Amino acid sequence: MDKLDMVFKKALEARNNAYAPYSGFKVGAALAVKGMDRLFSGCNVENASYGGTICAERTAIVSSIAVLGKVDLEFCVVVTDSVPPSPPCALCLQVFSEFCDPDFPIYLATLKGIEKKFFLRDLLPVPFNKIPD
Ligand code: THU
Repeated sequence: MDKLDMVFKKALEARNNAYAPYSGFKVGAALAVKGMDRLFSGCNVENASYGGTICAERTAIVSSIAVLGKVDLEFCVVVTDSVPPSPPCALCLQVFSEFCDPDFPIYLATLKGIEKKFFLRDLLPVPFNKIPD
């Protein structure tokens, strides 16, 4: 199994752990790290106070940082049961932009497999940055 398939599988597994009693919309995300076999995953974790909800993508990024600190992330796979598959929300994209280059690949998948590849710059061309370029 190649790395992309393994990351997809990891995201699918994480999606099964999603805590989404309010929306019913389960999301799984997984990250590959450059030069490393270790993968990180996340699911959405909702809260009765809706604003307390954490998305799958941010769960995965935060998890990687908690274990390894800031490392070179290679790519991300996001799995939902939407057809076509859903992209990460703008808040998650902004968080990706904090830790990843604009050419960071983001793969969108349904439960059946990967459907689309984007780069971070495609989905968030102009991230917030208080330092002018
Ligand atoms: N959600 C994610 O996990 N990732 C996103 O990028 C967008 C939305 C979650 C949050 C909430 O639990 C559910 O999807 C419905 O919005």
